[in-house]
Amino acid sequence: MDNSIADNTIALAAGNIRLSFGRIQVLDDVSFDIKQDEILSIIGPNGAGKTSLMNCLSGFYKPQEGQIEFRGRDITGMPMHRRAHLGMGRTFQGIQLFPHMSVLENILAGRHVRMKTNFLQSFVHWPWVRREEVAHRRVVEEIIDFLEMEFIRDSIVGELGYGLRKRVDLGRALALEPEILIMDEPMAGMNVEEKEDMARFIIDIQEYRKIPVILVEHDMEVVMDISNRIAVLEWGHMIAEGPPDEIRDNPRVINAYLGEEQ
Ligand SMILES: Nc1ncnc2c1ncn2[C@@H]1O[C@H](COP(=O)(O)OP(=O)(O)OP(=O)(O)O)[C@@H](O)[C@H]1O
Ligand SMILES: [Mg+2]
Repeated sequence: MDNSIADNTIALAAGNIRLSFGRIQVLDDVSFDIKQDEILSIIGPNGAGKTSLMNCLSGFYKPQEGQIEFRGRDITGMPMHRRAHLGMGRTFQGIQLFPHMSVLENILAGRHVRMKTNFLQSFVHWPWVRREEVAHRRVVEEIIDFLEMEFIRDSIVGELGYGLRKRVDLGRALALEPEILIMDEPMAGMNVEEKEDMARFIIDIQEYRKIPVILVEHDMEVVMDISNRIAVLEWGHMIAEGPPDEIRDNPRVINAYLGEEQ
C-alpha cells in the first residue's frame, strides 16, 4: 500500500461523464470526486443512473464523453480487468458469486487478479503453486476473520440467506486487496441487524484499510449515518453534493424523493 498519499488526496475523479444507450440519455455531464479518506454515498431515485455510473467507473460501460482519473492516472479508456489490477474493487447490486462453491472458495476466487498462476492451475498441486496458494489462503482467512464469517466458511454460498451472501460478496471484493471499494446497494434485502453489521464493516474498511468507499444505497438512515459526503443523482444529472446535514435539508433533494413516492 502506498502510504505517501495524504488523506485528503483525491483518489478518484470523474469529469463530465455522458452516457447514452441509443436515444436514452442515462448520464448527462456528471462530475464528482472522492478523497482518500472518504465514504461518499451516491443516492437518487430508481433509474437515476447510479449503477450505470458505477459501471463507468469500473469499466463495464464506456461513456461517450468524459474522463475518469484514478490515483492521478487517466483510466477512461482502460479495460475492466486492468482497472481491477489497479485495485478497483466492487460489490454488485445483484450478487455475482459461485452459488455451488463454499464461502472460502468464493473469496479465494476473488483473488484471481492477484494470483500469478491462474485460477484453474491453482487446483493443480505443484509445489510452487502450493506455496502461492498458502499465501493466498492466509489473506482469505484474514478476510473471513474480519467479516466475522468463521461460522460459514465452509458453507455452500447458494444455501446462505441473502444478507450473508452480501457479506460474502464484500469478502470477494476485499480479496482483491482493493485501493478503492465501490459498493452498489450492499444493504438491499437485509434485516436491521445485518444492516448494522454491514455499516460497521464499511466504516472499518475505510478506517483501518485507509481506502475510500463509494456507496450506492437507498437506506437513508444508513447513508446519513456513515457518509462523509453525499452526491445526488436524478435522471442522469448530479443535482446536489455535500455533507449529510446539507443534503438532508436540500429542497431539490427532498423534491426528487417526494417525486418518487407520488
Ligand atoms: N445496458 C443498458 N442498456 C439500456 N439502458 C440501460 C442500460 N443500463 C442502464 N440503462 C438505463 O439507464 C437508466 C439508469 O439505470 P441504472 O440501473 O443506472 O439506475 P439506478 O440509479 O442504479 O437505479 P436503481 O436504484 O433501481 O438500481 C435506466 O433507465 C436504465 O433502463
Ligand atoms: Mg442500481
